[in-house]
Amino acid sequence: MHAYDIDLVRRSFAKLEPIAPQAAALFYDNLFTADPALRNLFRGDMREQGAKLMQMIGAAVSLLDQPELLSSALRKLGARHAGYGVAEPHYASVGGALLRTLQAGLGESFTVEVRNAWVALYDFVSRSMIDAARAEATSAASALRYV
Ligand code: HEM
Repeated sequence: MHAYDIDLVRRSFAKLEPIAPQAAALFYDNLFTADPALRNLFRGDMREQGAKLMQMIGAAVSLLDQPELLSSALRKLGARHAGYGVAEPHYASVGGALLRTLQAGLGESFTVEVRNAWVALYDFVSRSMIDAARAEATSAASALRYV
């Protein structure tokens, strides 16, 4: 991501941090409205889940200028998500819910530029996670061939 986009993402995320629990709740509302079946994948307490999600987005936002470190954390997260039953199309639903949440939380400051910067961030995050999940599936399949 370009330095300018990184800056836009950081400044806009800082505006959401004081309302992180509400933003997380709104995110899951948006997600389950768009795709009610996804609710079944979540087993734990949704408030805790929301806090973890916001923390992870915060970590990603602060690691944006260290893409190698970020990518390695995201690959591990992606591999764990395959174990939670998360499939590739779900990433598009999560991306959509995230953008709707940012729009509601940021209001007028969610400009086209800010939106594009978040699209670039989510693209990087979801690609790293999906690549890791695919690699895990391939190595599990080849391990099975030798059983
Ligand atoms: C931006 C991408 C995403 C981020 C940053 C993210 C973040 C997280 C974090 C931090 C956890 C806590 C557990 C752990 O660290 O392994 C988690 C769990 C989980 N996430 Fe995600 N996630 C993302 C995408 C998705 C997508 C696309 C889905 C599909 C609906 C999903 C569904 C889940 C589920 C089902 C759990 C486990 C919940 C449970 O234990 O009940 N996540 N996620």
